[in-house]
Amino acid sequence: MSGRLFSQMLDGVTCGDCIDVMNHMPAGCVDFVLTDPPYLVRYRDRSGRTVANDDDDAWLAPAFRAMYHVLRNDALCVSFYGWTRADAFLTAARAAGFRAAGHIVFRKRYASGVRFLRYEHEQAYLFAKGDPPLPMAPPSDVIDNWRYTGNRLHPTQKPVGILQPLIEAFTPSGAIVMDPFCGSGSTLIAARDAGRRFIGIELDPDHHATSVRRLHGTRALSAAA
Ligand SMILES: C[S@@+](CC[C@H](N)C(=O)[O-])C[C@H]1O[C@@H](n2cnc3c(N)ncnc32)[C@H](O)[C@@H]1O
Repeated sequence: MSGRLFSQMLDGVTCGDCIDVMNHMPAGCVDFVLTDPPYLVRYRDRSGRTVANDDDDAWLAPAFRAMYHVLRNDALCVSFYGWTRADAFLTAARAAGFRAAGHIVFRKRYASGVRFLRYEHEQAYLFAKGDPPLPMAPPSDVIDNWRYTGNRLHPTQKPVGILQPLIEAFTPSGAIVMDPFCGSGSTLIAARDAGRRFIGIELDPDHHATSVRRLHGTRALSAAA
């Protein structure tokens, strides 16, 4: 990929398979990855909406290899994951070269399901490539301010408010933040509002269109979270 093509991706969303796209990007071109890939749980909401690639883990190892390729040395990656497949996510990340540097629990004020337990949290790994410097103000690994988005823009839409503090803790102003599974663009809005550059990739053309619309809309629409 030429420098010109790469600069066209900056502060925008590319529609395509992120593995393909990332493998064509220059090595070490992003400063932080904050992503929310499919959880591998065959998710289906009440209205029948599903998530692409949520039923098949063939993309998992190549995606972590590609994220490792685009991330610069001595930098961090935060990846949400599905707890029923924690082993697969950890194995894929380690095989790519990442080291687990932390684990984040996002406490919700509602249960997303009730069976043996009331399922009231989401989770993400903090992965390190190389030896990143410690942040000036390390955030807690339990994050409490999860606000229900209503999933209006995406069936598994994350709240912008829980993403922005992670971006602020782990990157300096102007850094390039990438979300290769960006859905409706929540990470990109958080990065933009924190004064960072961003790169989004999304496979589904409808979600891609939503993220573009959101980025070009008013702050009220973009914060619809
Ligand atoms: C859990 S959702 C992300 C939701 C997002 N955090 C939000 O707030 O809207 C995962 C997204 O990854 C996309 N996806 C799945 N496989 C992909 C691939 N190979 N390349 C790019 N995007 C992919 C899905 O279409 C879905 O929108």
